[in-house]
Amino acid sequence: MFAALLAITLGCSTTKKNIVATTTNTLSIDRKVDSLLSLMTLEEKVGQMNQYNGFWDVTGPVPKDGQAAKKYEHLKKGWVGSMLNVKGVKDVKALQKIAVEETRLGIPLIFGFDVIHGYKTISPIPLAEAASWDMEAIKKSAEIAAAESAASGLNWTFAPMVDVSRDARWGRVMEGAGEDPYLNSIIAEARVKGFQGDLGEFNLAACVKHFAGYGFSESGKDYNTVDVSNNTLHNIILPPFKAAADAGALTFMNSFNDLEGIPATGNAYLQREILKKEWNFQGFIVSDWGSLGEMVGHGYSKDLKQAAEQAANAGSDMDMESSGYVEYLAALVREGKVSEDKIDDSVRRILKVKFLLGLFDNPYKYCDEAREKETVGKKEFHDGVLDVAKKSIVLLKNDNNLLPLKKQGQKIAVIGALSDDKTSPLGSWRIGADDNTAISVLEGLRKYTGNTLTYAKGADVALGSPKFIVETKINMTDKSGFAEAVNTAKGADVVIMVLGEHGLLSGEGRSRTELGLPGVQQELLETVYKANPNIVLVLTNGRPLVLSWAAQNIPAIVEAWHLGTQSGNAIAQVLYGDYNPSGKLPMSFPRAVGQVPIYYNHKSTGRPGGDTPTESVFWAHYMDVENSPLYPFGHGLSYSKFEYSNLKLSTPAFSTNGKITVSVDVKNTSAIDGKEVVQLYIRDLFGSVTRPVKELKGFELTEIKAGQVKTVSFTIDEKTIEFYTANNKWEAEPGDFKVFVGGSSVTKLEAPFNYTK
Ligand code: BGC
Repeated sequence: MFAALLAITLGCSTTKKNIVATTTNTLSIDRKVDSLLSLMTLEEKVGQMNQYNGFWDVTGPVPKDGQAAKKYEHLKKGWVGSMLNVKGVKDVKALQKIAVEETRLGIPLIFGFDVIHGYKTISPIPLAEAASWDMEAIKKSAEIAAAESAASGLNWTFAPMVDVSRDARWGRVMEGAGEDPYLNSIIAEARVKGFQGDLGEFNLAACVKHFAGYGFSESGKDYNTVDVSNNTLHNIILPPFKAAADAGALTFMNSFNDLEGIPATGNAYLQREILKKEWNFQGFIVSDWGSLGEMVGHGYSKDLKQAAEQAANAGSDMDMESSGYVEYLAALVREGKVSEDKIDDSVRRILKVKFLLGLFDNPYKYCDEAREKETVGKKEFHDGVLDVAKKSIVLLKNDNNLLPLKKQGQKIAVIGALSDDKTSPLGSWRIGADDNTAISVLEGLRKYTGNTLTYAKGADVALGSPKFIVETKINMTDKSGFAEAVNTAKGADVVIMVLGEHGLLSGEGRSRTELGLPGVQQELLETVYKANPNIVLVLTNGRPLVLSWAAQNIPAIVEAWHLGTQSGNAIAQVLYGDYNPSGKLPMSFPRAVGQVPIYYNHKSTGRPGGDTPTESVFWAHYMDVENSPLYPFGHGLSYSKFEYSNLKLSTPAFSTNGKITVSVDVKNTSAIDGKEVVQLYIRDLFGSVTRPVKELKGFELTEIKAGQVKTVSFTIDEKTIEFYTANNKWEAEPGDFKVFVGGSSVTKLEAPFNYTK
């Protein structure tokens, strides 16, 4: 029907099929969008702005009553522009067929899904991938996720999440790239490019979320109030969003939280002023799940109708699942409360993305059953996620070179329920994947047959919410397995303890106030330690943990996050030295939960002091814990050893359009080839607003052969030192700076430099 009507507007008289082909080839997308828009009724326009969650099992009868029946009717009328959480070619095709063949204009739907770290073949959680500092691997992982889900009918992922967060209590830190705006920005770009590629049949539209401030929810409690300064908003929170927009992200998602008292969904400053005007973003913004309706909960809207008015006026283009737009927006236009121009602008943006995805050329572009069969779960995807999983592992500690393990003649005891778990490694956002499909740590270790392996569970590990614990009858205090664990550990050459958080203990809605090992795992660790201290602690978790006792007592600690489908293979290959770890922490690990939020790029304050106690108490510190984190941002060891020397600046000063080349020698002093993330930080010593004590401004992941010295160079120019100043704009301010280079945010080498305008 659409093609026929389009023909009328364009004055053509060719057949339906021909018109689509002709117009696709000859008209610019904007003209095609305008042409289509001119055919649409107000209700049909609003319909494009409406997104529903999957409401119908397409193999069953059509819904006859309740919400599902209403949604079905809306679908047939062309009042639905998008659906989410429908997956698989069969289901997507059935719904797309209704939109294309049964509605007046035949506008195809766009199908969204949370393909956050993989679809069926699961990659490491994004926080883990960030620890790889390997943009090629991160991009590849997004490509795999896109290819598998696009083959399953999907064309839009609600990723990447680029929320900078400094608070490990917030469960969603697992979904982001940690505490640093620069690292987040580079990763945002890699992930957008990986998902979107050239928008071919194996790509997805990306959705950058959550715009903005969600990572700063007060006290780390999900969905909580956000109260940040303009300075933090612009210097810390917004840069990754800008980077994602610049990388060509087609869509954005707003956020549940309020900011400066205005919920993000109704926030015109964020959506209209910054994103659409200042950044000239041409794609569309979808609300977060029901976040329109939640503006009533915030006490910002008196009812859903007012929420729809506020959201539309603020620039929120598509309503995810609150029904506010489809119910009220047409009436609001007729009442003069929302202008039709604003509606047209939103619809244009949505249609444009559909055109760019090629859905008008072929609404079934993503619906090829044969392709789905041959693509999902491909061997090369498993190889790809294994590769990024190995790269994501961070060696936190390795005293006495306990690692890598010897491959022959060792008695190895493996302890901890998480080592025998094939679901937990899939992490929190794995709604396309099946339970029990990850390689467990035990399975990975068993591939090394030269040693003898014994296993004891020791203790249960808590799943997600208290409800899960009740349903699964997990006894969080049960120590009856301790004796067996102790016996297993006794007499072993090495004890591998796999402890941490279950994959469902982090993620959305999973905030915690304690950051230690949940349940009785800490007690289990200490009990086993008494029997055999030769322990390698393998942590699986979705956030930084407090590990102070372990850091002091356990000789080797490996941060293995939730690494996805190939988890156990990745861990085993690192433990046995077939892969030399090179991951670095993207978030600081605190010594105590009371230090949170803790982050390396903090401000100096007027009373900085060092970490050493002094006689005076009147400086910024705690009475009971040092200021520094247990493991700092950027920390991570290797089986190689690296030494930094010879920091050189090509010139100690530069001015407008000038630059400084910074170089450093990095020597691999060990007998093992390895990779190192060489990190460059700067400090702006004074500014029109207070400045962080250190800011990451560059890094290079580089391979250095045993005994080799590599010279690594970076450029410092005006871009490097720009920030959001007291003038409320990004600019470089003249003054004195320091540059630091090293293998973590705690660096030994530094040099001064100066910038003049
Ligand atoms: C989350 C989003 C997600 C959406 C759709 C919300 O609860 O905050 O990140 O994309 O649900 O599943």
